Amino acid sequence: MAQLEFNGQVVVVTGAGQGIGRAYARELARRGALVVVNDLGAAQDLADETLAELAAREIREAGGQAVSDGNTVATPEGGRAIVQRALDTWGRIDALICNAGIVRDVTFAKMPFEKLDAVLAVNLCAAFYVGQPAFQAMKAQETGGRILFTTSASGLFGNFGQSNYGAAKMGVVGLSRTLAIEGAKNNIKVNVVAPWASSRMTRGASDAAADLYTSAGDMLSPEKIAPLAVLLCHSSCPSTGQTYQAGAGMFSRVVTQLTHGYALKEGETAEDLLRNWDTVVSGPAREIANAQGVAPFFAERLGIKAF
Ligand SMILES: NC(=O)c1ccc[n+]([C@@H]2O[C@H](COP(=O)([O-])OP(=O)(O)OC[C@H]3O[C@@H](n4cnc5c(N)ncnc54)[C@H](O)[C@@H]3O)[C@@H](O)[C@H]2O)c1
Repeated sequence: MAQLEFNGQVVVVTGAGQGIGRAYARELARRGALVVVNDLGAAQDLADETLAELAAREIREAGGQAVSDGNTVATPEGGRAIVQRALDTWGRIDALICNAGIVRDVTFAKMPFEKLDAVLAVNLCAAFYVGQPAFQAMKAQETGGRILFTTSASGLFGNFGQSNYGAAKMGVVGLSRTLAIEGAKNNIKVNVVAPWASSRMTRGASDAAADLYTSAGDMLSPEKIAPLAVLLCHSSCPSTGQTYQAGAGMFSRVVTQLTHGYALKEGETAEDLLRNWDTVVSGPAREIANAQGVAPFFAERLGIKAF
């Protein structure tokens, strides 16, 4: 028996008809989870209604339990319906993985706002549309729950041509920080994964990136991300409010820190700040637990008791 088993646990995975979401759904089902496989089933240009059902059937044929759901994550009604599918079928929801995603790459200067709206709806607003009803249901349960959002290196670190996608993906990181705080007393843990895997999405990437995905082969298979999803969705999850970069079997926590910085002395000016710029941008740094931690940290650096 696997230590991280999910017997009787209900897990919803959005965008699970293929790629990384499908790998999550299969691995969770293999560990005993009852899985709602959501996918709109849209190929990049044309609709294919059967993606979610195909993935769910595959799980059932392997001896697992899964139902499919074809609602979009990109509307409040769709989000509610996806969570309702879990509640109607199995009466609860123990974990939600918001994995569905799309890209609509274009440089910032040339971006039509339709491409902004579409990318925000699926990659960011969906975290609210699916996340809120799931969060409410988890709050109403004694046991709480687990939520895993999906970000991207494009948001965390920046990528040419992906300002819409990067902004949306970074939005869920901000959401996760607050939701981890709001969910803490109900045992709802919220984390974020920045996956890196070969999929339909990356096959449409720029030439240089596409070459890398091809040469890396199985090293970058979606299955290589699944261990992190298992751990973060399990009742024993050791993490909340954190973001992890994952790919090729490598897992690394993404860290946001404040440098020790430089405090201008009385009478010092912008020129003094420039002279001490190295101290502002580099050197020792510290993680801050939440927004309330900034003031005490600055007070400490300024050598005062409090503000
Ligand atoms: N593959 C990578 O290297 C990589 C890197 C960074 C982030 N990501 C993110 O990981 C997630 C999974 O990506 P993937 O590579 O498996 O992509 P993919 O394109 O293979 O799978 C995404 C799935 O989401 C579904 N989807 C799209 N819009 C939807 C909607 N409105 N409602 C429901 N389902 C919808 C698609 O039909 C598709 O099956 C995405 O959020 C993506 O942005 C992937």
